[in-house]
Amino acid sequence: MSTRILALNAQKGGVGKTTAAVNLASSLDKAGNRVLLVDFDPQADATMTVGIRPHEDDGPTSFDYVLGECDLADAVRPTQFGRLEVLPVYDAAIDRLGVPKLAGPDSRRARAKALADGFHSRFASELARRYPDEPELRLARLVTGLPDGRKRGAVSTSDQWSAYDYAVIDLPPQQVLPVAMVLASADAVIIPTKVEAYAMRGFARMLDTISDVREVFNPSLRLVGVLATFAQIRTQTTSIYLEAMRDVTERLGTPLFDTIIPYRVQAIAASGLGLPLHYYPETKALAAMYDKLAAEVMRAFGDSPKARTTGSGTRGHSTRR
Ligand SMILES: Nc1ncnc2c1ncn2[C@@H]1O[C@H](COP(=O)(O)OP(=O)(O)OP(=O)(O)O)[C@@H](O)[C@H]1O
Ligand SMILES: [Mg+2]
Repeated sequence: MSTRILALNAQKGGVGKTTAAVNLASSLDKAGNRVLLVDFDPQADATMTVGIRPHEDDGPTSFDYVLGECDLADAVRPTQFGRLEVLPVYDAAIDRLGVPKLAGPDSRRARAKALADGFHSRFASELARRYPDEPELRLARLVTGLPDGRKRGAVSTSDQWSAYDYAVIDLPPQQVLPVAMVLASADAVIIPTKVEAYAMRGFARMLDTISDVREVFNPSLRLVGVLATFAQIRTQTTSIYLEAMRDVTERLGTPLFDTIIPYRVQAIAASGLGLPLHYYPETKALAAMYDKLAAEVMRAFGDSPKARTTGSGTRGHSTRR
């Protein structure tokens, strides 16, 4: 089996992309897989949610990796959570691209400001300067080890990536270069969608983006499912909105996961503490929902849970299959 590369993407902000990326990764780890969580959002929310403080570290990041500054293994870090590893983002990556730093305890705001100051456009122009020939293919080339990336439908992965059963990639909400670059390299995309009025607005445009990527860069990109999030179970409005989501997804022929993620205020505390939901006592029931989601994802790929091998919590991938 080659590495399954899953991208969490939605154009809307605050719909639960990062929470799904981190906790799906954690659930896949608990099901006995080698998992790499990849953070391509310079806000670094996924990085922080696995206990890393982005303003305290200046090591190589996911962005340095695609810019050719380091090997995958140099940038990947172990976490304290099972065998889960992370390809992180640090504020230093933002500095390296010449975006002024506004670090300090209020680093979330600093990052938001740095983004507004043009992180994405600086990244795009730097990537295009270094890799002028279809910069969008840069990650797919690294992942497959092939000059065409996945253009010819390749699903194989290069040796470094083959160490993992799954890579789960978190993305920013905007339509920016990292999104196209990640979709060009992914096997599948999952679209978290908040259960609310007008939830499906912009959804058709999202599907257009996916078909454009298929046409130009990655014919085998699959939409594995739409994930309903923040559902206020047992309220009438939620049932109405969920029904509307079912209608739209059915009409467009896109799968909707059976697993529905409920609204739980404790989720905010867990991410604030830098903990995946499995590792915070108040959110174990919510974590179980991501286990169900992981089971659905594994089924969609024809994979089954495996007996956990006794590997160390860090690198050393020799235990894989
Ligand atoms: N099931 C849930 N119930 C309640 N709050 C949640 C739930 N899932 C996530 N949250 C909280 O909602 C906020 C937004 O979630 P998250 O960061 O995952 O969304 P996002 O789509 O990644 O946002 P962005 O577009 O900013 O990257 C976070 O504070 C998170 O802790
Ligand atoms: Mg996010």
